[in-house]
Amino acid sequence: MCNADWLFRTQTALWHPCTQMKHLERMPPLPSERGEGPWLVDFDGHRYLDCISSWWVNLFGHANPRINAALVDQLGKIEHVMLAGCTHAPVVALSERLGKLTGLGHAFYGSDGASATEIALKMSFHYWRNRDRPQKTHFVSLQNGYHGETLGALSVTDVALFKDTYAPLLRQSHQLPSPDWRLAEPGETSEAYALRCADRAEAFLSECADSTAAIILEPLVQGAAGMAMYHPAYLARLRALCDEYDVHLIADELAVGFGRAGTLFACEQASPPRGEGATFQVSDVADFLCLSKGITGGYLPLSCVLTTGHVYEAFYDDATARGFLHSHSYTGNALACRAALAVLDIFQQDDVIAVNRRKSARFTELLTPVADHPRVRNFRHTGMIWAFDVDRAPPGFSRDFHQRALARGLFIRPIGGTVYFMPPYVIEEPEMSLMARVTLELLDQS
Ligand SMILES: Cc1ncc(COP(=O)(O)O)c(C=O)c1O
Repeated sequence: MCNADWLFRTQTALWHPCTQMKHLERMPPLPSERGEGPWLVDFDGHRYLDCISSWWVNLFGHANPRINAALVDQLGKIEHVMLAGCTHAPVVALSERLGKLTGLGHAFYGSDGASATEIALKMSFHYWRNRDRPQKTHFVSLQNGYHGETLGALSVTDVALFKDTYAPLLRQSHQLPSPDWRLAEPGETSEAYALRCADRAEAFLSECADSTAAIILEPLVQGAAGMAMYHPAYLARLRALCDEYDVHLIADELAVGFGRAGTLFACEQASPPRGEGATFQVSDVADFLCLSKGITGGYLPLSCVLTTGHVYEAFYDDATARGFLHSHSYTGNALACRAALAVLDIFQQDDVIAVNRRKSARFTELLTPVADHPRVRNFRHTGMIWAFDVDRAPPGFSRDFHQRALARGLFIRPIGGTVYFMPPYVIEEPEMSLMARVTLELLDQS
């Protein structure tokens, strides 16, 4: 079976996510036979560098021997057992470790990212109800924010293309101005702009806190908005406002968690306005932390919402209905939890955050000619994420760039006129050089 065979069968049997299927006539999907580290290999033997970590999930490469070994071992023990009425070693060990790493000691599991969003929103709402404040039912998010595609998650998402069609099905939510530094006034620093946005959040809360359950946001980088990046002072200020106005803060780190933003969790970078030296634990910033994607190194669907003892206690009661009765069949899947434990082992054993800091500095250096290219605007970088906007990007730029990059061995999917890199952490100098060189050539030809 070659690429063409698989493409024919794909076209007849599959309905792809986030895709207008008719477009596949001109832009067929990449048939992947296998993965090797940061590389994808098709059925005809061509190799493609996975520059976006398979939708931001892969951390340590495809077919990673250490994660494979952990899964093989787990397969010999237990693959899955329902988590209502049962427990198992990987889910307990993972919850303990995540609790220590974040300061949020209660872990509730889901499957995909959107299910984590749903869990956090429902938990926040239910918390206020259990605390006799049932009027706190509204959710607030950021302009251009993205939190998933299920109806609750889409209600707090602000991406018109995904949301507008389903508007009649969604709950109303309020969007605060995005602290995306590209929106700053000329001469205004990213920090000053972030704090100006926080002032707008305060104005909103001073009016509406009584009916607001929670604010949900993507810490530091709004991924689906086109890798919009913002100053960490926003997080600390928002935390202070949430304390002052008695509103929950939900940190959606589905995309930026597990080292993607440069620290294990992005909330650790929250900095007091113009302050020095304070270090934050996630629990100093968030009431709820949503994790998925990289949690299993890109192997298996798993999501997790971590929260505080304070929230947990509001549900702990003799009355069943005061408990959090949400569930998914695959909640806390043993194989997925075991993969997640292997991922945490790799972080620890390989000092991944420090190694990534060096890789990140080197790739940024290699991208200097890209950043200086006359078509490039707003070159930006946070941790292991790089992005830039292409000036005067014509309609269809994203698809055209994707295809030309693929022909040169890069798997990359621009968002509108924004090109970004989110590579697996196992990239080395040759892969970084390839990404920088091919991108420059493609820009020259654009
Ligand atoms: C910040 C954020 N939240 C939520 C989601 C939804 O996750 P999933 O696609 O696993 O449902 C994503 C996915 O890209 C995301 O980036």
